[in-house]
Amino acid sequence: QKKDAASSEKVLRVGCNADFAPFEFQSEDSKEYTGFDMDLIRAVGKEMGYKVDIQNINFDGLIPSMEAGNIDVIISGMTINDERKNKVLFSKPYYQSGLTIVVKGDNDAIKEFKDLDGKKIAVQIGTTGATEAKTIPNAVVKEFNSSADTFMELKAGGVDAVVNDRPVNDYYLAKSGEKNVKRLSEVLTAEDYGIAMSKKNPELAKQIDEALDKLKANGEYDKIYETWFGK
Ligand code: ARG
Repeated sequence: QKKDAASSEKVLRVGCNADFAPFEFQSEDSKEYTGFDMDLIRAVGKEMGYKVDIQNINFDGLIPSMEAGNIDVIISGMTINDERKNKVLFSKPYYQSGLTIVVKGDNDAIKEFKDLDGKKIAVQIGTTGATEAKTIPNAVVKEFNSSADTFMELKAGGVDAVVNDRPVNDYYLAKSGEKNVKRLSEVLTAEDYGIAMSKKNPELAKQIDEALDKLKANGEYDKIYETWFGK
């Protein structure tokens, strides 16, 4: 972690892919990074006495960027899984998620996961959604840099479905103003999000877990949760 020269305050360099509302995205007017993850990591930083400096990085570049020493932590709706645990340390889980499928509102051919056989599917590069989509027989999986791009491709008719995280799909359905889309009820996976740290930094991982514990105990976590997901 670096020190801010002007204030001598400790700086926590945070990486995210800020195109994943409601977890991390840029507000339309101020361009400020906002969302559940952003509020949570700012609260964690405050608890630890760090100033938080947020960097927007492609999702598949986040772990490499931390390995290169450019950021200290990743908070990016990142699912804790074994493949990633080989490379990074994860905090305790801070959010329960899972994958769902989004199709056009008038698509009656796709009702569940198995109907994706032979279909065209949009996913974000390097995500669990991409891994899941690649297990579908005969499917053509198109990979995009951001989850917003996958929804645009669906709208443009380039794919039949998007496989992506449930809360992000739900937020898109509720907030995009897009009428001709729907989410299938089936939830494909159970996934937990965690904050990632370098394996070289077990001390930081410990501090982050302690901060998360405090925010859960003092009600701050619940407040942030309610801001983005309601009661
Ligand atoms: N939870 C999924 C994963 O870990 C997707 C995360 C994508 N995050 C983002 N900010 N684009 O692979």
